[in-house]
Amino acid sequence: MIPVKNSAEILKMREACEVAATVLYKVTQLVEVGVSTYDLDQAGKRFMQELGATSACYNYRNGSKVYPGYICISVNEEVVHGIGSMRRTIKSGDAVSVDVVISYNGFIGDNANTVIVGEAPEEIQFLVTETKKSLDQAIRVAKPGGRVGDISNAVQTYIESRGLSIVRDFVGHGVGRSMHEEPQIPNYGRKGKGDKLKPGMTLAIEPMVNLGKPSVRVLSDGWTAVTVDGKPSAHFEHTVLITQDGAEILTLPKK
Ligand code: MF3
Ligand code: CO
Repeated sequence: MIPVKNSAEILKMREACEVAATVLYKVTQLVEVGVSTYDLDQAGKRFMQELGATSACYNYRNGSKVYPGYICISVNEEVVHGIGSMRRTIKSGDAVSVDVVISYNGFIGDNANTVIVGEAPEEIQFLVTETKKSLDQAIRVAKPGGRVGDISNAVQTYIESRGLSIVRDFVGHGVGRSMHEEPQIPNYGRKGKGDKLKPGMTLAIEPMVNLGKPSVRVLSDGWTAVTVDGKPSAHFEHTVLITQDGAEILTLPKK
């Protein structure tokens, strides 16, 4: 069953998502040449503390593995779940994806974006802008009466028309009291298939897109997913609320 949130729960989701977006915005502002991904992780931790939130990633378990970071920072060929490290320093031309998942007042907000630092080849700028646009397309088609497959298909159609490739090993998801609720939201699929969307559902939609081949593998740290061909990858994510007539982005920073 896909949870449908009542108005009190929606209010708490709004607050959690606004905090998640504010932390993401603040961390993204710090992404520049010379900063280490460890520094970015620590900044994320501090911004969460300042806003009264905690990281939903820190100590997150997947089988026997425990996530050691506060946010995920994935550079270039890293697709998702990169762990901040003092040994990885941002260089000009890097595409840096930052993924922030916070817990606030019992609810989770989840969002991510990718920024290019300094000068990068045109193909990398293309990858990043088109991945962002695929998320916009997906949000545009999400509405009550529609289905999860409509979202999946919107991402796939857009991305494949651009000659880019979809990562299939990770998916978007429902989000609420837990980071991962039903449904799973793949970034590929068929229109009209899958669960029906209803007002009050809160969903994390998150296209992960590769410049080269779609295949990814996980490094020996147990978390960092990288492209097999070593080419760059981009990732954007919003938590949205299904409303009476569409989808509203909840992960927008406080004005
Ligand atoms: N946005 C990612 C997801 O939905 C964040 C995972 S955080 C970590 O899976 F705990 F796995 F690091
Ligand atoms: Co997510």
